[in-house]
Amino acid sequence: MTTILAISNQKGGVAKTTTCMSLGAGLVERGKRVLMVDLDSQANLTLAAGLDGETLPWTVVDLLDAPDLDLPEAERGAIYATAMDGLDILPADVRLASVERALYDRRNYEYLLGEILRKWHDSYDYILLDCPPSLGAVTLMALTTAQMVLVPVQCEFYAARGLNRLLDIVSEVKKHTNPHLDYHLLATMYDRRNNICRTVLEQLQTHFSGALFETVIGVDTRLRESPVTGEPVLLYAPRTRAAQQYRSLAEEVETLLEER
Ligand SMILES: Nc1ncnc2c1ncn2[C@@H]1O[C@H](COP(=O)(O)OP(=O)(O)OP(=O)(O)O)[C@@H](O)[C@H]1O
Ligand SMILES: [Mg+2]
Repeated sequence: MTTILAISNQKGGVAKTTTCMSLGAGLVERGKRVLMVDLDSQANLTLAAGLDGETLPWTVVDLLDAPDLDLPEAERGAIYATAMDGLDILPADVRLASVERALYDRRNYEYLLGEILRKWHDSYDYILLDCPPSLGAVTLMALTTAQMVLVPVQCEFYAARGLNRLLDIVSEVKKHTNPHLDYHLLATMYDRRNNICRTVLEQLQTHFSGALFETVIGVDTRLRESPVTGEPVLLYAPRTRAAQQYRSLAEEVETLLEER
């Protein structure tokens, strides 16, 4: 069975895209087949996979906005391989912003992504959804589709701001469109020499003890470099701490899902 994980936080720059790519690679190293879906009109995940959404014949936008399209052809063409064998991507492009605005007028739009992805359930063990930094229609659609939402939280002073709003949305989605949705927080960009960082991590451990991954992702400049090469950090710098931490996250994700 395919497990669908949404990676979401309406706060920008907290490592959603980095986590999608690196966790995806970690799961592939564990022998899993993984599809990443770029759901952000900035298309950073697409770029990090070495692709340019603006020049691709098909992206996720064509599938979401399909009324006049030869869908089977788009479906065949819209999945791309990445530098890592077994890690595929359904890319995005800038048109996603206008498609998102049109989604609100579509009845039951929350279920659209789930319907689109259903045809790939047999091909992948995991589908990872890289959400945009907002709580709009695309994020609601992703939360409706996923079994679990992984929330990267940057270890900094403002980290908790907005977290309650996101968790309220998760409750709403559970109530209305996806009763099985679960959430787990991931502390990212942790710098143990920084007092604020340590305090924020302690607060997360206190308030979210059962819903916080034990794995903590430290600050590592290799994570800033790897997108430029089109490779996940696990390929680009396989022995670095960041690579090891994302491997440990992949293991924790698998254990958690087995226990569910
Ligand atoms: N652990 C880390 N150490 C150092 N830099 C990191 C780390 N994780 C992510 N970064 C860098 O921080 C920046 C933001 O990360 P990323 O793009 O993954 O965040 P995001 O939440 O997807 O952002 P957006 O909200 O814009 O989609 C990037 O330049 C990325 O390379
Ligand atoms: Mg991103």
